[in-house]
Amino acid sequence: MERLPFIAGNWKMNKTVGEALELVKALKISLMGIYGVEVAVAPPFTALYPVAQELKNSSIELAAQNLFWEEKGAFTGEVSPLMLKEIGCQYVIIGHSERRQYFGETDEMVNRKIRSAIRSDLKVIFCIGESLEEREEGKTFSVVERQLVEGLKGIDEERMGQIVIAYEPVWAIGTGRTASPEQAGEVHRFIREKIEGLFSKRTSERVRIQYGGSVTPENIKALMAEPGIDGALVGGASLQAESFTRIVRFKEI
Ligand code: 13P
Repeated sequence: MERLPFIAGNWKMNKTVGEALELVKALKISLMGIYGVEVAVAPPFTALYPVAQELKNSSIELAAQNLFWEEKGAFTGEVSPLMLKEIGCQYVIIGHSERRQYFGETDEMVNRKIRSAIRSDLKVIFCIGESLEEREEGKTFSVVERQLVEGLKGIDEERMGQIVIAYEPVWAIGTGRTASPEQAGEVHRFIREKIEGLFSKRTSERVRIQYGGSVTPENIKALMAEPGIDGALVGGASLQAESFTRIVRFKEI
C-alpha cells in the first residue's frame, strides 16, 4: 500500500505575523512544483489567518497547533474547531507532548479534542510518544499503546482517513538526539499493529505515521527509508525556509 509522504512544520511559539509571512513566501517559491509529498505548516494562532491568505492557490496546507473541543462559549483564551475551519485550516495538531507536559493535557482531553476536530471536518495530526524515563523503564510500548487507545476512543473507522499519527519520542524533541530509523521503525510497526487490532488491516495499511524529534535535512533520508515511516513532524528545522525545503525535498538529496 503506497502512502503519500507527509511533512509538516510545527512552528510552536515562534514567528510574529511579519516573520511568518516572510517564511511562507519563501516556502511558496522553494517548494513550487513539488509533487509526491504532502506539505503543511503550523504557525501560532496569531499568524494563521494571514498565512492562510498567503497560501491561497498554493499546495502548502495549513495546520493549527491546538484547539478546544467546544464550538463556542465562555472559554476564555480558547479557539474552537469552527474558527479554525473558517479561516482555512485543513489540519490541527493534537496531543503534542509539550501540551501534555506543560499544559496538563490528559489522554481524555486529547480524545475530546480529536473527536471535536473530526466532527468539524478538520484533519488531525495526533501526537504520541514516550519520555526518556518511560523508555529507560521499558515502558515505551505500553505508554504508546495507552495514548493511542485512549486518544482514539469513540472514533469510527471511516473517520480514520482524517487522522495522521505522529510518533514523537519526548527525549528526541528539541534535543538533537534523533531516534535511529530502527528505533522509530520498531515503534511505528507497533503502532500499525495496534491500529489493525483497533480497526482493521486495511485501515492500518492506510494510516500515515510521521516521525518527529530532531528531524534535520541530514537525517530525513534515512528516516524516510524506513518502511513504516510515512513522513515527519518537524520543529526547529521548520523555522527556516532553507532547512525545511531540504527536508521536504528529501527524495532529491
Ligand atoms: P524538533 O524538530 O525541534 O525536535 O521538534 C519536534 C516536534 O516537537 C515537532 O512537533
